[in-house]
Amino acid sequence: MDTATLPEPATTTRTLRVSRFSRDGRPPRFEEFEVPVTEGTTVLEALRWIRVHRDAALGLRHSCFHASCGTCGMRVNGREVLACVTDVASLGQGPVTIEPIANLPLLQDLVVDMASFYARFPLPPPLVRTSELVSASELPEGIDAHERFEDCIECGLCLSACPVVATDETYVGPAALAYAQRLLEEDRGADRAAILSWADDDNAAWRCHAAFECTEACPSDVRPAERIMALRRELVLHRETVR
Ligand code: SF4
Ligand code: FES
Repeated sequence: MDTATLPEPATTTRTLRVSRFSRDGRPPRFEEFEVPVTEGTTVLEALRWIRVHRDAALGLRHSCFHASCGTCGMRVNGREVLACVTDVASLGQGPVTIEPIANLPLLQDLVVDMASFYARFPLPPPLVRTSELVSASELPEGIDAHERFEDCIECGLCLSACPVVATDETYVGPAALAYAQRLLEEDRGADRAAILSWADDDNAAWRCHAAFECTEACPSDVRPAERIMALRRELVLHRETVR
């Protein structure tokens, strides 16, 4: 069929309940917007429609539009998602409730301050990484079996979903622990003793309750909960070798 003759996708209207917050002293609240959507309209596109057509002051963050940059994380109908790859049509028929990710300081509407997310990581934090392979290295046997922590897009969804972080902000949380395990897994000159000591702290690997909510929330298949369990095994082995 000539694509010029394809019918236009049907447009329907959905109600978005958007969490609003500003630092002007007013309490947080929900505001409702009626938004036109078609098949394939994402939550991010619906929010951008609100900003263009209803309220230019709506605070939200995004960049890549394809699940790579990690900036559009939010809670939609109570679940942590990337808004750029979440279809409104996949969210049932009722109103769609949109909130910022939890467990991080709120700046405005759907925008949180990620500084305390990065502050949880063992040093050096993974803000900027150099190339993947040390120049003198060879690909190890079975490289396909490696799950690379570099798949982490630093979206903070695991931190938002973690029930332990929700009750104890001193817990370093899943992403940082998964990063530490990755540093131990493939040594690139990392200070193993320092990482093990960091991970053995009261607020680190042993604080996890193994709820696995972080793995459920992670959009990038990092599987942080499994990595925390692997980190614990490393800690036990280390204790036995230094005994
Ligand atoms: S581990 Fe997954 S959920 Fe957590 S910050 Fe990285 S990509 Fe996001
Ligand atoms: S806009 Fe980059 S992950 Fe969604």
